[in-house]
Amino acid sequence: MVVEPAPAAPPLPHLHVVPRHVAITMDGNGRWAESRGLHRADGHRAGAEAMRPIIERVGQHGVEVLTLWGFSTENWGRPRAEVQSILRLGRDFIDRHLEELDEAGVQLRHLGDVDRLPGWLRGRVETAIDRTSSNSKLILNLAFSYGGRADIVDAVQQLVREGVPAEQVTEELIGSRLATAGLPEPDLLIRTGGEIRVSNFLVWQAAYAEYYFTDTLWPDFGTEQVDAALMEFSKRQRRFGLVDGSDVDHLSDESDA
Ligand code: FPP
Repeated sequence: MVVEPAPAAPPLPHLHVVPRHVAITMDGNGRWAESRGLHRADGHRAGAEAMRPIIERVGQHGVEVLTLWGFSTENWGRPRAEVQSILRLGRDFIDRHLEELDEAGVQLRHLGDVDRLPGWLRGRVETAIDRTSSNSKLILNLAFSYGGRADIVDAVQQLVREGVPAEQVTEELIGSRLATAGLPEPDLLIRTGGEIRVSNFLVWQAAYAEYYFTDTLWPDFGTEQVDAALMEFSKRQRRFGLVDGSDVDHLSDESDA
């Protein structure tokens, strides 16, 4: 059998602006499989294969944080066999890639309800987090059993438990109790698979993110596609609610009152 060499990655394009945090909704595995007459589980397997090259590429671009959403709180409602196949892929991903990710300086983190994961996956997630905790080349958040609203509810519950008085609750304080505490907010949120919606992903953190929607189904989303998303981002002008020539100093100037 002749084994074809893996195609070489295209040259790394220069980006004028590199997002610090990129978050991806990996959508379209099911349709990718169905269009080929395969089972949905095959689509998820192909989706898991697509993750590694994207991690490598965003790291090469100098992105600091990559969040990959593999399983939402709502996905628990899918047929049991499909849920199992996705959870097993999470386990296999860690088993196959932990060592090389660690060697490449990737720090693994988990976003979401780790307690809801079966013990055989939870243990691996915890091992991966421990093992890579001092790495700093790229932070890789695996959002598994993650929902944006649940994240906010958890944060508010923590503050209530801590007895924080209502008037001391600020955006910064809520942010400091979210799963992403201490990380830069997502600058770029990519969603593959053709749907143009947010679906409860990082709903607090992505308030000022740039969105990039593509019809490409996740298993087909490769190096060239992620480069295109990053290049599009680097061309966008972000204003954070301001206009050109805004003078934020006047906000504290009472002379205009
Ligand atoms: C959305 O596609 C994708 C998922 C619900 C699962 C994503 C899982 C992986 C990429 C692999 C496992 C994850 C890890 C962390 C290793 P869909 O099933 O909603 O596709 P459809 O919209 O075409 O039906």
